[in-house]
Amino acid sequence: MSDEIKKGLLGIVVDETEVSKVMPEINSLTYRGYAAQDLCAKCKFEEVAYLILNGELPTKKQLKKFEKEERKDRKLSKTLLDDIKKFPKKAHPMDVARTAVSIMGLEDKETKDNSPKANMRKVMRIFAKMPVALAAFYRARKGKKIISPQKNLSFSENFFHMCFGKVPNKEIVKAFDVSLILYAEHSFNVSTFTARTITSSLSDIHGAITGAIASLKGPLHGGANEEVMHMMNKIKKPENALKWINKALDNKDVVMGFGHRVYKSGDSRVPTMREYFGKVAKIKKDKKFEKIYDIVEKVMINRKNIYPNVDYPTGPTYHLMGFDTDFFTPIFVISRITGWSAHIIEQHAANKLIRPLASYRGSKHRKVLQLNQR
Ligand code: ACO
Repeated sequence: MSDEIKKGLLGIVVDETEVSKVMPEINSLTYRGYAAQDLCAKCKFEEVAYLILNGELPTKKQLKKFEKEERKDRKLSKTLLDDIKKFPKKAHPMDVARTAVSIMGLEDKETKDNSPKANMRKVMRIFAKMPVALAAFYRARKGKKIISPQKNLSFSENFFHMCFGKVPNKEIVKAFDVSLILYAEHSFNVSTFTARTITSSLSDIHGAITGAIASLKGPLHGGANEEVMHMMNKIKKPENALKWINKALDNKDVVMGFGHRVYKSGDSRVPTMREYFGKVAKIKKDKKFEKIYDIVEKVMINRKNIYPNVDYPTGPTYHLMGFDTDFFTPIFVISRITGWSAHIIEQHAANKLIRPLASYRGSKHRKVLQLNQR
């Protein structure tokens, strides 16, 4: 067997999927064959969540049933809610998300049942409860009263309501919904591959999503949207942007929110999210971050030929919406649960244990000496 190493599994095709693909012929990310930006234009997030999980866009009747189920499943157990109140206030909300889904696994009566039907019921519960758990922590750590989910509100509206106690205007909610649609799925990225790897030992969905969240947290993956905001805060004002980015490139720094393993000439999700970032900036009457955004982007393309990924526009958009920076990646989680779950179900349906090989470069065989001989 050849010992050729493909570090980072670069360019390796490890399985088949029906969930999503970046289609070169339309230069776009597609979910179940539909371009993500077309879904943003014509659908709300719940429709896309249904599509990713079920393979088809819902009819009105199917959507109503799906929304009813999601809204019914939102309530957290008293144990989980009490635990969230006791979590360290300085904990990163991604660690809260990871712990919350783990606790959901302890409580779920069907944890051991990996049948497709049980998995779908568990997905709905995780999908419905995760925003509630995160919003509860959002308020608990500020010493604010936790706000219960409301059944007459959509997925996105309800998240704003639980975090801030009010629902913003429709355009802001739409921008948030668009970000969730764009974050929902992206084939064999590192967190999804983590979820599939965990699933491949026939482990359960709560465990797979727990691992996926840990993987998404890293700054080279989902954590980049938070890093983008830290970068913009360091730059402070548009007048500083040119000097800052040139210095970063001179220092050979990695600039967060740029580059992608799959897209080498631009992430197809960026133009849509950039448009909504602009809309939110206009509503909030704050153009500072847009100006910084454009300057940094221009230099990155001119000097490095590296384009932004979707984390670049989502970071400042969430900031303008009022979210704390460390909640940006958790927002990614509440959306990506759909993509992870579709892949977990797909992995279960045609499973093969994921177990790559390594090229060994450690010591040659050695004799073990007794402790007093070493
Ligand atoms: N800033 C500066 N240089 C970069 C960047 C960047 N953001 N991205 C890539 N490069 C450079 C690398 O330094 C490397 O240069 P070299 O060949 O001279 O060493 C070259 O471009 C190739 O980059 P790799 O890191 O080898 O490409 P890879 O496909 O492994 O990495 C990754 C992709 C991890 C996303 C990378 O572009 C990066 O670190 N980006 C910043 C983090 C980020 O924004 N992550 C979010 C990804 S999207 C998502 O998860 C939703």
